[in-house]
Amino acid sequence: MPLVKILVLGGSVFLSKAVATDALERGHEVTCATRGTSGPVPDGATFVAWDRTQEVPGELAGASYDAVVDVARIPSWVRKGVAAFPSAHWVFVSTVNAYADDSVPDGTPGTLELREPRHEDADLGTDPEAYGPMKVACEQLVRQGAASWTVIRPGLIVGPGDPTGRFTYWPVRLADGGEALAGGRPGDRMQVIDVRDLAAWIVTCAEQRTGGDLDGVGEVMPLSRMLAETAAGVGSDATFTWVPQEFLAEQGVEPWMGPEALPLWLPRPECDGLGTHDPAPSYAAGLVLRPVADTARDTLAWVRATPDAPVSGMSRDREAAVLAAWHSLRE
Ligand SMILES: NC(=O)c1ccc[n+]([C@@H]2O[C@H](COP(=O)([O-])OP(=O)(O)OC[C@H]3O[C@@H](n4cnc5c(N)ncnc54)[C@H](OP(=O)(O)O)[C@@H]3O)[C@@H](O)[C@H]2O)c1
Repeated sequence: MPLVKILVLGGSVFLSKAVATDALERGHEVTCATRGTSGPVPDGATFVAWDRTQEVPGELAGASYDAVVDVARIPSWVRKGVAAFPSAHWVFVSTVNAYADDSVPDGTPGTLELREPRHEDADLGTDPEAYGPMKVACEQLVRQGAASWTVIRPGLIVGPGDPTGRFTYWPVRLADGGEALAGGRPGDRMQVIDVRDLAAWIVTCAEQRTGGDLDGVGEVMPLSRMLAETAAGVGSDATFTWVPQEFLAEQGVEPWMGPEALPLWLPRPECDGLGTHDPAPSYAAGLVLRPVADTARDTLAWVRATPDAPVSGMSRDREAAVLAAWHSLRE
């Protein structure tokens, strides 16, 4: 593969950092543009300071790149970027939240409807619902302005460095062993993608100028298998007690993420589509996945080596209280 000049818009956090790291490992010439507030970019990358609320700095505007990888959520940021680098191949990282209906299982980019775009910038701190619609608008800007493009819509991205702590809850919890609270039904389906696998595929798409819209998603599997593989990855002998969603809701347990949440548990059937995107088109476009057990093992190692690693989800005391309430109901 010929070497590529890649501009990563980001590069200091989780996915965009993994993209820059992977591209450097393949010998590509990598420039990362950020404000410089979230941390350093990987060794070997050229750093350019750019706050994307401001104009493109001269150092970037005068350069040309074969490929641009962008993780932005804000339309005006993408508009400026595409206008500055129209001849590059753009790999735009969108989200499965771009899809209009979270309840439709086994969808692909070819079968699922998108949300209506929101072209104006919104503050996601006060208006989190604008996330999907703004990503749809960003996708459109890339399609309209770039010479060629890949739009990748990831589902839940997991692994070492995850700033959200959602999947991370499980390797940490299961490493402690004992009786673990599991939400919903064992056969409820879910998928995750390791950040390193997604990053590697993004670099492949940049190298090959892969065209079109694709989902950045992992293998769809029963949650019972995902948790069993996670347990195996961290060498756990934990047992699982499956508690129906109605009981969890009565107990005030939140789905997905947050201090009271049980991560990976999603309300059904309204979220049946969120973790069940058909990965077949992405495999055909070169996506290669590692086993969930490997992701779990490496995530736990990262947490153990990183004192401030974010871990979402309920405390052990809270888990014990919910389990006790469930068992007392059945006595
Ligand atoms: N996590 C998930 O499960 C999930 C699921 C679906 C899709 N996604 C998508 O995956 C991507 C994740 O990207 P990521 O992990 O790299 O994190 P990110 O939070 O999207 O991006 C962080 C990068 O953006 C830079 N940045 C932030 N504000 C900036 C500004 N004003 N100007 C210039 N640069 C700025 C940061 O550096 P500085 O702060 O130093 O500027 C950092 O390098 C996003 O596109 C997200 O929407 C995530």
